[in-house]
Amino acid sequence: MTTTHLLFVCLGNICRSPSAENIMNHLIQQRQLGDRMVCDSAGTASYHVGSAPDRRMAQAARAQGIELVGRARQFEAIDLDRFDYVLAMDRQNYRDILALDSRGQHRDKVRLMCDFCRRHPDQEVPDPYYGGPEGFAYVIDLLQDACEGLIDHVLDHPVATPQ
Ligand code: 4NP
Repeated sequence: MTTTHLLFVCLGNICRSPSAENIMNHLIQQRQLGDRMVCDSAGTASYHVGSAPDRRMAQAARAQGIELVGRARQFEAIDLDRFDYVLAMDRQNYRDILALDSRGQHRDKVRLMCDFCRRHPDQEVPDPYYGGPEGFAYVIDLLQDACEGLIDHVLDHPVATPQ
């Protein structure tokens, strides 16, 4: 059995990437795929390390039946060795992740989360931090779309790095 390790990455690891991680875990549980996929999340910045998910984000997730759990941690270069897919929420996150791939050997496993959307035309998951509640609700809807597409993609392209 191949277990694919997925890492979701945003800036602070308190809004978008913990939502992606928890939505994905919800789908994995629903579809009984826990032996096929394992998820984590991280932020490129250190400001919120150790913090719980943002309350506004948690409220928007709860409205869709998803509880946000976890604590923020910072993305580090070794994550590129440990994970099979590294999903960046926006292009700045993508650039910051690849800046730690000094030899360019992990380039192919770093992807933009919205590449997996099937219902939304967006290319990036917008940062909801400084906006209103509708921004948080939109992020949840967008991530549900991307996570559904991502699950199907991983089932078609399973990869596993020796842990
Ligand atoms: P996230 O959102 O990257 O989706 O976790 C943000 C969280 C915090 C900040 C910006 C974005 N901040 O500037 O503190």
